[in-house]
Amino acid sequence: MAICSMRFQRPWLLYILHLYILVNKNGAITPDGEALLSFRSAIVSSDGILPLWRPEDADPCNWRGVTCDQKTKRVIYLSLKNHKLSGPISPDLGKLEHLRVLALYNNNFYGTIPSELGNCTELQEIFLQGNYLSGPIPSELGNLTVLQNLDISSNSLSGSIPSSLGKLNKLITFNVSNNFLIGPIPSDGVLINFADNSFTGNRDLCGKQINRTCRDDSGGSGTDGQPPSGQNQGGKKKYSGRLLISTSATIGALLLVALMCFWGCFLYKKFGKNESNSIAMDVSGGASIVMFHGDLPYSSKDIIKKLETLTEEHVIGSGGFGTVYKLEMDDGSIFALKRIVKMDDGFDRFFERELEILGSIKHRYLVNLRGYCNSPTSKLLIYDFLSGGSLDEALHERSEQLDWDARLTVIMGAAKGLAYLHHDCSPRIIHRDIKSSNILLDGNLEARVTDFGLAKLLGDGESHITTIVAGTFGYLAPEYMQSGRATEKTDVYSFGVLVLEVLSGKRPTDASFIEKGLNIVGWLNFLITENRPREIVDPNCEGVQVESLDALLSVAIQCVSSSPEDRPTMHRVVQVLESEVMTPCPSDFYDTNSD
Ligand SMILES: *[C@@H]1O[C@H](CO)[C@@H](O)[C@H](O)[C@H]1NC(C)=O
Ligand SMILES: *[C@@H]1O[C@H](CO)[C@@H](O)[C@H](O)[C@H]1NC(C)=O
Ligand SMILES: *[C@@H]1O[C@H](CO)[C@@H](O)[C@H](O)[C@H]1NC(C)=O
Ligand SMILES: *[C@@H]1O[C@H](CO)[C@@H](O)[C@H](O)[C@H]1NC(C)=O
Repeated sequence: MAICSMRFQRPWLLYILHLYILVNKNGAITPDGEALLSFRSAIVSSDGILPLWRPEDADPCNWRGVTCDQKTKRVIYLSLKNHKLSGPISPDLGKLEHLRVLALYNNNFYGTIPSELGNCTELQEIFLQGNYLSGPIPSELGNLTVLQNLDISSNSLSGSIPSSLGKLNKLITFNVSNNFLIGPIPSDGVLINFADNSFTGNRDLCGKQINRTCRDDSGGSGTDGQPPSGQNQGGKKKYSGRLLISTSATIGALLLVALMCFWGCFLYKKFGKNESNSIAMDVSGGASIVMFHGDLPYSSKDIIKKLETLTEEHVIGSGGFGTVYKLEMDDGSIFALKRIVKMDDGFDRFFERELEILGSIKHRYLVNLRGYCNSPTSKLLIYDFLSGGSLDEALHERSEQLDWDARLTVIMGAAKGLAYLHHDCSPRIIHRDIKSSNILLDGNLEARVTDFGLAKLLGDGESHITTIVAGTFGYLAPEYMQSGRATEKTDVYSFGVLVLEVLSGKRPTDASFIEKGLNIVGWLNFLITENRPREIVDPNCEGVQVESLDALLSVAIQCVSSSPEDRPTMHRVVQVLESEVMTPCPSDFYDTNSD
C-alpha cells in the first residue's frame, strides 16, 4: 500500500521539485545544503560517495545519505555509514537544526565530536561508533533532550563522561564502550539505567553501573569531559614552571603544605603521579636493585646513592613510557635509567617475571637491559647508554644529515632487532611501539631497538593510550587503531612507517602531510598513483642509490599495506633488505617515469 501511494504521489513530487529548482535556479543552495558542503569539504577521503553531492543543486535532498522533510526541505537524516570517510566532523553539522538522525558509524573520522551538535536539539539518534574520534565527550550533548540512542563506542575518546548526559531522559540505548574514558560514571540521572555492556573496554571508569566503587569521594558527578591535567607524562617541567609563576600567595602556601605532606607522609597518590619527581624517594623504601647476568658490577647501595644525586639536569629524554636519565657511575661507566611512574597496583609479580625474560634477551641490535628496580612508587630500568642518541634526534633535530649509507645501516639494524624479537625469542615479543624515538644509535650510528616488551608489561590499554598520547599516531596500523590488539604485523606496519620516515627525513605526521590531509603513508600512496614514489626521499640526503632505493621502497610499500596479510614478516624483510637493498642488482620493481 505504501508503494502504491508513493507511485501516485510521484508526479506531484517531481512537479513540485521541478518548480523549486526553477525558482531556485539562480539562487544559492539552501543553508542546510551549505552546512553539508562544509561537512564534505572537511572530509579528505571516501569511497567515492561524496563527489555526487553537487553544489549546484538547489537543495541537498537528493544527495546520497541525506533525507529531508518533504514539506520543509530541511535535512532530517544524515546517514553515511561504512563509506571509508576520513577527516574531521565539521562543526557546521550543528546548523542542521532539524536533524533527527546522525549515522556516521564505521568510517575513519578523526578529531573531536563537535560540541555544536548540541545545537541540533531535534536529534533522536547519534551513531558515531567505529571511528577514530578523540578528545572529550562534549557536555553539550546533554542539551539534546529528545535523544534516544547514543552510540559513540569504539573510538579514542578520553576524559570523563559529562554529568550533563544524565539529563537525557529519553535515552534508550547508550554505548561508550571501547574508548579511553576515565572517572566516575554519572549516577544522578538516566545513566544509572545502563549496565556493564554500555561501558566496557575503557581506561578507568568507575561507578555503580559497573560494580566498581570510585576511589575518591567525588561521587557520581563527572568533571564534564575535562581530561585530567596530570595525564601527560612529559608535562612535569611545565607544571613546576607554572607553580613558580603562580602569583597567588594562598595557592602557593597551600601547595607548599601539600608538597611537604607529599614528601613526609607518602600521600603522593592523592596528588597524581607527576609531582613525585624524586628518584630518591623511589628508592628510599628499601627496594632492592635486581641485576642480570652480573652485568651491573655495583651493589644496590652504590646505585641508590647515585640515583639520589640525579636531578632534572640529567634528563636525556621523556616519552610515553617515562623519563630517561643519564646515570654516570664513579668508575666512569654510563647507563640510561628509565623511570616509569606506577600506573596501577597489582601486577608487580608479573612485572618482575617479564623483566627477567627481557633482561635475558641479548642481541646486537637491541638495547641491553642491565637491571631493574621495582620501587614502591615507580619502576626503574637500567639500560646501556648509547652515545648516538635516538634516531628521532638524528633525523629531525640535528643539522648534520645522515647520508644514504647511514640510513640504510639504521634500517637494517632496526629490521634485524625486530626480526629477532618476532622470530627468535621464546616467547616471541611484539614491540607495539616501533618509532624513531625507540631506535637508539651507538657511536657508529648502528641502530638498537629499545623499549621492547614494555608495552605488554604495562598492560595493553595503557600502552595503547600512551602511544597515542605520545603523538605516535602516524606509526599505528589501522587495525591496531581500531581494535587495540597488536600482532607482529602491526609492528611490521610501524616498521614500514619508520622506513618512510628515514627515507623522507620527515615525521609521519609532518605538517606538510597534514596540510594535504594525509600522513606519510597517504603521501606515499599519492606519489605511487602519480608514478613518482622516489620523490619521497629527503632531498638533503647525499649518496642515494637508485637501485637500493627502489628495492627499499618496494619493501616499505608492502609493510604499510592496509591489510595485515599483505605485509611481509620481519624475517622476510631482513632477507630482502640483505639481498636486494644492501647489495642491489639493477632491476625494476615497478615502472618509473622516463628519466
Ligand atoms: C549554536 O547555537 C548558538 C546559540 O543558539 C549559536 O550562537 C551558534 O552559532 C550555533 N552554532 C552553530 C554551529 O549553529
Ligand atoms: C548546552 O549545554 C552547555 C553545557 O552543558 C550549556 O552551557 C549551554 O547553556 C547549553 N545550551 C542550551 C541552549 O541549552
Ligand atoms: C557497545 O558496543 C560494543 C562494541 O563497541 C558492543 O560489543 C556492545 O555489545 C555494545 N553494548 C550495547 C549495550 O549495545
Ligand atoms: C553488580 O552487582 C549486582 C548486585 O550486587 C549484581 O546483580 C550484578 O550482576 C553485578 N553486575 C556485575 C557486572 O557484576
